[in-house]
Amino acid sequence: MFANILILLIILALTLGAGWLTDKALRAKRLWVKIAGGLGAGILTLVLGALTFAGVRGLAMIYFPGAAPAPELTVAGTPEQIARGEYIAGISCLGCHGSFPNGFEGAPEYPLVGGVDLAAAEGFGFVGQLGAENLTPGGKLADYTDGEIFRALRHGVDKNGQTLGFMSLLAVGELSDADLEALIAFLRAQPAATTDGPTGDKLNFVGLLFFGAGLFPAPEKRPDSINAPAQGPTAEYGKYVATIGDCRGCHGSDMTGTPASPAGPEVPNPRPLVGETTLEQFVEMFRSGIKPDGVAFPATMPWQSAAAMTDDDLAALYAYLTTAP
Ligand code: HEC
Ligand code: HEC
Repeated sequence: MFANILILLIILALTLGAGWLTDKALRAKRLWVKIAGGLGAGILTLVLGALTFAGVRGLAMIYFPGAAPAPELTVAGTPEQIARGEYIAGISCLGCHGSFPNGFEGAPEYPLVGGVDLAAAEGFGFVGQLGAENLTPGGKLADYTDGEIFRALRHGVDKNGQTLGFMSLLAVGELSDADLEALIAFLRAQPAATTDGPTGDKLNFVGLLFFGAGLFPAPEKRPDSINAPAQGPTAEYGKYVATIGDCRGCHGSDMTGTPASPAGPEVPNPRPLVGETTLEQFVEMFRSGIKPDGVAFPATMPWQSAAAMTDDDLAALYAYLTTAP
């Protein structure tokens, strides 16, 4: 944080210097100095000014997001909560926070020790480190209250109220209060484990610029309290299942596809394909990772999270994807 503030101050000073030079050049007596000097220094001032603007914005977004205080909360940790939490974690946390004995491209395993720098693994390591955290009681969550974990999941900020680079962009914040409490119950119930790998955020100045310039999607403000729709094979509950699976994070909030952006390549609209499959084919596609036309999902489509869903949840997902958005 301090290195980034220092860089920002230097760029601010350079902007002011370039502005001063522009002014000097424009007041020069000789015409060619006016034109060449004014244009050169003027463009430099604009570029540096834009960097300062994006830097200040990124700094505010990451270090001073204005997070509400963590709620007073004590999760009971009933067996039902732990089981529900384990189910959700298997669908939506394991893929990043698991351990990867065969490398990040291989299948993730428990325990949830993290230790992989996802910025580097996803090809944007130039923004700094975004290391998946150790979620077992052997990691930093041992020092968090239940309310602080709840706020981290709902609002994407850490114990100090600073933005979590990756978590703040995920759909986890849209899960219901009851499901977040179930996750906390499960995380607390795991055996403690440790990792030697990189954990936590170390965003550099380029990372701040990316957030500040809006090249990464801006973290959304979430309500403090969320209820899930009633469970059942309905489009409404299916949309919630698509949130648990973070399907909407990649395929767009209505599951109609997303265009290419600096955060990733284009993601197709899955609805036309699903509209042509029966429920049985749909379930089979996600259990096997092979589409009805015999083509396997590529590694860019994490079908394993859908494979971990119950038949009932897949039926709800099917109802959602076959109902017009
Ligand atoms: C796409 C990858 C990804 C997924 C999926 C993911 N996480 Fe994270 N998580 C991260 C990364 C990376 C960090 C490190 C901080 C950051 O960059 O957000 C992190 C940090 C955390 C933290 C630490 C917060 C803090 O205060 O430092 C918690 C708690 C957490 N994740 C819980 C979860 C839970 C629970 C799930 C599943 C519901 C989940 N995460 C799913 C990548 C992920
Ligand atoms: C990390 C991003 C990501 C997530 C999360 C994700 N998908 Fe995908 N999905 C993709 C990409 C990329 C493709 C295109 C793969 C290809 O090139 O064939 C795809 C393809 C698909 C297809 C096939 C579309 C077609 O016409 O071939 C379906 C169906 C689908 N996804 C459903 C889902 C569901 C349901 C979920 C949630 C459980 C989900 N996806 C989660 C990225 C994602």
